[in-house]
Amino acid sequence: MSDTFTIGIDGEQLPARKGETVLQVARRGGIHIPTLCADDRLDAAGCCRACLVEIDGQRRLQPSCAWQATPNMNVKSHSPRVQRHRETLLAMYMADHKLGADGLPIHTTQGNELRNWALETPHKKLTPVHSPRKGRVEDLNPYISFDPELCVVCAKCTRYCDEIEAVNAITLTLRGSETTIATHGERGLLDTTCELCGGCIDVCPTGAMHAKQTPRFLQPEEITKVRTTCNYCGVGCQIDLNVHKGKIVQVTAPPVGETVNDGNLCVKGRFAYNFVHHEQRLTTPMIRGADGELHPATWEEAITFAAKGLLRIKDQHGPHALGFVSSSRCTNEENYLVQKLARAAFGTNNVHQCAAT
Ligand code: SF4
Ligand code: SF4
Ligand code: FES
Repeated sequence: MSDTFTIGIDGEQLPARKGETVLQVARRGGIHIPTLCADDRLDAAGCCRACLVEIDGQRRLQPSCAWQATPNMNVKSHSPRVQRHRETLLAMYMADHKLGADGLPIHTTQGNELRNWALETPHKKLTPVHSPRKGRVEDLNPYISFDPELCVVCAKCTRYCDEIEAVNAITLTLRGSETTIATHGERGLLDTTCELCGGCIDVCPTGAMHAKQTPRFLQPEEITKVRTTCNYCGVGCQIDLNVHKGKIVQVTAPPVGETVNDGNLCVKGRFAYNFVHHEQRLTTPMIRGADGELHPATWEEAITFAAKGLLRIKDQHGPHALGFVSSSRCTNEENYLVQKLARAAFGTNNVHQCAAT
C-alpha cells in the first residue's frame, strides 16, 4: 500500500496518509464529525460513539476516530442513517446529563462539547433519568473536582492520566449506567499517585472534571486569554492565562501541537498563579536604607545601588570576592548574560546556576 492515497468522504476525494484515521482525514478536509472521546495524543478508544460513520462494505456504522483510512474506501459521514444514529445517541446522552434553563447540556467555563453538538444537531427529547453515577469521595486536594452529573464516561481523563502522565491515579469503575471515575480504594487524590497536573481537566469535553479555583459557569466572552511563558522553570512551557474582570481565574495549556508543551502542564504552571494577585506580592524593587528598613525604589535606583555595591566589593577585595548565581527559572539568554556580566564586566569566573548541581 502506498503511503499516500485518497479516500472518498461525502462524495469528495480527500488525501490520506497511511496510518491516519477516517476522522483525521475528514478533519483535514474540513468535514466536521462530532466527537467526545477522540484525542490524537491518546490511543483511540471508540467509546462515545458520536463519530460513527457509514463505510461501504461494512454492515455496521463504524467509529471514524478508530477506523484506519485505506485506499479507495468510501465513507458517508452525514447520511440519513448516520444522522438517525446521532440524534438518538445525543438524546440518550442528554437524558442523564445536567441541562441548563434552555434545555441543553449546561455550559461550563471549559466549554461543553455535548452542548456544542446539541446546538448543531436536531435531537429527540427522552424522559430524563436520574443517573445513578456517583462522584469520587470528596477529598482535600485543593485543585480538582469531579461532577458526575456532567460526565459522559468518555474515559479521556483516565486515558490521559494513564497514557500521557503514566500515573494511573484515576480509573473507570463500576458497570453500565453506574460507571464512574474513581481512585483506587476511593482514596482522595492526594493519597494516590496523582501529580495534580490537571490534564484530566483540560481533556474533559464537558467540564465534569474541573478546577476548584475557577468559577464554573463563565461564558467565553467573559474570559480573555493571554498567551505567556510559564516562569516556574526553564522549559519554557506556553500557558494561556484566562482573565476575568482583570483577574486570572485559570491557566490552560494552549492547543495540542501549537507549543513546546504540546497541550500539557505541570501542577505549578497550571495552578500556582494566586501569587499574581496576592496582597503581599512585591510590585516594586526595595532598598534597605540606613535605618535598616526596606524602602520602595525605582528599577533605575535599585540597579544603580546593586552595581555600586558590587563595584565596591571588587575594589576593596578583588573580583574573586564576588560570586554570581543564576537561576533555572531564567531563560538561556538571561543565564548567558549573567555569566557575561561576571566574566567580562567584573573579571571573575565565580558563576553558578542552580540547575548545575
Ligand atoms: S491531575 Fe494529572 S495525575 Fe492527577 S488524576 Fe488528573 S491527569 Fe492524573
Ligand atoms: S470526567 Fe470528563 S473526561 Fe472523564 S470520563 Fe467523564 S466526561 Fe470524560
Ligand atoms: S470520538 Fe469516536 S467513538 Fe468517541
